[in-house]
Amino acid sequence: MPESRAQGGASEGRARARDAEPRPLTGGSVEDYIVGKQVGQGAYATVCFGLHKETNRKVAIKIYDKYKLMDPQRRKSVRSEIHLMERMRHPNIVIFHEALDTPKQIFLVMEFVGGGSLHHFLKKRPGRRLDDQLAKRIFFQVCQGIRYMHERNIVHRDVKLENLLLDEQGVVKIIDFGFSTEVCRHGS
Ligand SMILES: Nc1ncnc2c1ncn2[C@@H]1O[C@H](COP(=O)(O)OP(=O)(O)OP(=O)(O)O)[C@@H](O)[C@H]1O
Ligand SMILES: [Mg+2]
Repeated sequence: MPESRAQGGASEGRARARDAEPRPLTGGSVEDYIVGKQVGQGAYATVCFGLHKETNRKVAIKIYDKYKLMDPQRRKSVRSEIHLMERMRHPNIVIFHEALDTPKQIFLVMEFVGGGSLHHFLKKRPGRRLDDQLAKRIFFQVCQGIRYMHERNIVHRDVKLENLLLDEQGVVKIIDFGFSTEVCRHGS
């Protein structure tokens, strides 16, 4: 688990409280960001580290090449990914900032989660095991995020270790809403 940051003074405490609820970056354009090195690769998208120039905020930018989205179903699923992420705001779900359309690519800008995936984290543990306390703490956070989604009729459909990231404080952040969907709830 990434180390918690050392406790600071009152102003640092206030800054931390602000960090916990960062305001999404919106209304921007691609020029507002410096696109850095690649941090992930999937079937349809590449994820890069990014920096919001004006605020110096770290972001992750999921980049879809439009030529890979010829299939209308794929385009629909990217639209749905954006729409669903826009609707969610929870401490255990990655914060979505904005979607940017360029002639050749679609950028999904979100908070950068810097502690690596649970997959990576487990690989480093002896015997790939967690002690009960830590497993409980992590599982609880995953459940909190999933409960929040389900209360909004959103189902992730791809919950796995690679899609559960840890931030620098060890907080779980659920990512990757590429397979997610909204369901109708009958009789409730
Ligand atoms: N917000 C983020 N902060 C840091 N790293 C991220 C973030 N989002 C994604 N990544 C990295 O990029 C990888 C790929 O991202 P993601 O899971 O969203 O794409 P994918 O698996 O290609 O998705 P899809 O299934 O929609 O094609 C993740 O496993 C993770 O390592
Ligand atoms: Mg993924």
